[in-house]
Amino acid sequence: MSKKKGVLVGAGYFSQFHFDAWSRLDNVDLVAVCDASEDVAGQAAKQYAIANHYTDFAEMLDREQPDFVDIVTGPDSHLSLVTQAAQRGIAIICQKALAPTFEEAKEIVEVAEASGSRLMVHENFRFQRWHREIRRQIDCGAIGDRLHGISFRCRMGDGWQPDAYLGRQPYFRTMPRLMVFETGVHFIDTFRYLVGEINGVYASLNRWNPDIVGEDAATIMFEFESGASGVWDGNRFNETNAENPRLTFGEAVVEGNGGSIRLDATGRLTLQRLGEPEQAIDYEFQDHAFAGDCVYHTQKHFIDSLQEEREFETSGREYLKSLAVVEAVYQSAQSRVPVRGIGIEIANTDGEVNT
Ligand SMILES: NC(=O)c1ccc[n+]([C@@H]2O[C@H](COP(=O)([O-])OP(=O)(O)OC[C@H]3O[C@@H](n4cnc5c(N)ncnc54)[C@H](O)[C@@H]3O)[C@@H](O)[C@H]2O)c1
Repeated sequence: MSKKKGVLVGAGYFSQFHFDAWSRLDNVDLVAVCDASEDVAGQAAKQYAIANHYTDFAEMLDREQPDFVDIVTGPDSHLSLVTQAAQRGIAIICQKALAPTFEEAKEIVEVAEASGSRLMVHENFRFQRWHREIRRQIDCGAIGDRLHGISFRCRMGDGWQPDAYLGRQPYFRTMPRLMVFETGVHFIDTFRYLVGEINGVYASLNRWNPDIVGEDAATIMFEFESGASGVWDGNRFNETNAENPRLTFGEAVVEGNGGSIRLDATGRLTLQRLGEPEQAIDYEFQDHAFAGDCVYHTQKHFIDSLQEEREFETSGREYLKSLAVVEAVYQSAQSRVPVRGIGIEIANTDGEVNT
């Protein structure tokens, strides 16, 4: 199969993982990088042996004529960048958070769909090998034929200091919405992948570090369409005892009418069928780059789906379902009551509204 020609915009902190992953995909040729800072763009081009660099996004698209663009800037710029790529019919993979607001996220999806450009959200947690293995175990009936629920405890411990997050992601400190908008969204999307659609939530949010703007702790209860229930207990302030808190971001248990699957912070998975001893699940993951090499697996899914003309698991339209749950979480936390009947309304390319 012929190689896909790609360009990347936004060469800040997280782009190192994108560059690393593109360089390991045989069917990709990353030909240019763009950053608003000439120094940053030039440095990235040199470090990752990329032929050309730019500070102007439109100029890069017009000169390079790529098959796809990888958007690794912050959410404020996504609508403008997606629009420029969509106008030129270029396929797009765009980092989460997709947009500053739910309305703008819908606009991004509508702009891409109206132009016929394919859009995938770079939502990488569902592509972590432990989540793929848990899903495989569920699908083959390892814990029965009815799921009871999922519970995940996330402790990052990187936000208790007065200079919280400064070294890596200083923008965390001033985000009006942090724990759910930035971090919890990964798990909302993963819960949907593992257990199915979510139609109700009840949430309580806190800010334990007084020096930041948004919330840094969340306790969320989920009701799934299937009748299963879920809990996400996340906190960036308190610490875990794990050697690397940024491998799995926490620990999980998934339960069904036949038993339980557990994930620990080292990526170890176990299966405990009802009435039987717990046993290790034999599977493989790479402790490479970010969080079990999930950026590589996300980008591989994008390229393989483009080449094979398959749907993206996290297409823009699909991802709006995760974002609708995020909105419901904030609504529930504010009103202090459960929010049920979560859905989205988005115009399709014929102008009809689908829910
Ligand atoms: N999926 C994940 O696990 C994960 C983890 C970390 C960050 N992210 C996301 O990745 C994105 C980038 O995060 P980061 O930490 O690398 O941010 P960053 O601030 O370190 O880097 C962003 C870069 O984009 C450039 N930029 C911004 N607007 C631009 C424009 N219009 N044209 C050209 N360049 C532009 C900036 O100059 C900067 O170099 C964010 O959306 C963030 O939420 C995702």
